[in-house]
Amino acid sequence: MKVLNFGSLNIDHVYNMPHFTEPKETQSSLSYLRNLGGKGLNQSIALAKAGAEVYHAGRIGADGEIFRTYLEGYGVNTRYLVTNPESVTGHAIIETSDGENRIILYGGANQEIGEAQIDETLKDFGQGDILLVQNEISGRGYLLEQAHAKGMMIVFNTAPMNEKVFSYPLSCVDLFVVNEVEGRALAGSAHTEPNRIMEDLIQKYPDKELILTAGTDGAWYYGKGKTVYQPSFPVKTVDTTAAGDTFTGCYLAVRLGGGLPEEAMRLAALASSMTVQKAGAAQSIPTLDQVREYEKTKNPA
Ligand code: RIB
Repeated sequence: MKVLNFGSLNIDHVYNMPHFTEPKETQSSLSYLRNLGGKGLNQSIALAKAGAEVYHAGRIGADGEIFRTYLEGYGVNTRYLVTNPESVTGHAIIETSDGENRIILYGGANQEIGEAQIDETLKDFGQGDILLVQNEISGRGYLLEQAHAKGMMIVFNTAPMNEKVFSYPLSCVDLFVVNEVEGRALAGSAHTEPNRIMEDLIQKYPDKELILTAGTDGAWYYGKGKTVYQPSFPVKTVDTTAAGDTFTGCYLAVRLGGGLPEEAMRLAALASSMTVQKAGAAQSIPTLDQVREYEKTKNPA
């Protein structure tokens, strides 16, 4: 069973700030890091580090060849990664402060993915394969439709959430992965407590599998009438960037390896708790062996 992750690739410019910059304020950063990121890239690496067979499809500009080498270094297949020499790779401006982040995106080549590239990629995938997609590339509606028609299992991480999500054929999705902000919007929930948001999600999408991650409040899984709650593991947070991506990749890889939702949720929560203890995106994601080692030193909250 292989995973096709059709996802974004961004050059992340990360500024650690004394506080988040206010309107009309100019302030100097405490530090600067240039990383490879993008929800797509991070999730491919999280999957690969947890042992899954991953194919990354996406689009980069002339400045993005480093992504190919980087993904391949983690064993991710880049046969479906297209370079448009006329274009620029997507980028993100990330402010971090007190363990939280704020992200500005410029889509670049991620927003040039169209039907031709989708058709060319999907021709090699079918029944039993998994399509993972986030909300950072163009062509998502068509991609969901075509992958569903081929019998692929579809996992949609609706991050970053926006109104466009509701224009996609959401009936094609098998598993939604959301954080509390995305979940609230997806469910049309009036609640702010994650457990209530999860209840609203279940009510709205009773036939889907659902994962809601809520940082220190823990994470919820729902599928086939069963709900699993996974508490978070308390740690000292340095940078939350890629925590959700780590959770998604690790969860899927463990399930693909035959793990039950309970085990996948526990290991995914541990993996994210490791990611947030390091600065950066993809480079802060642990391998499954590291997660299992770390588990021996930890007790659930
Ligand atoms: O989820 C974290 C990612 O969101 C960053 O790597 C950034 O590129 C944005 O896509």
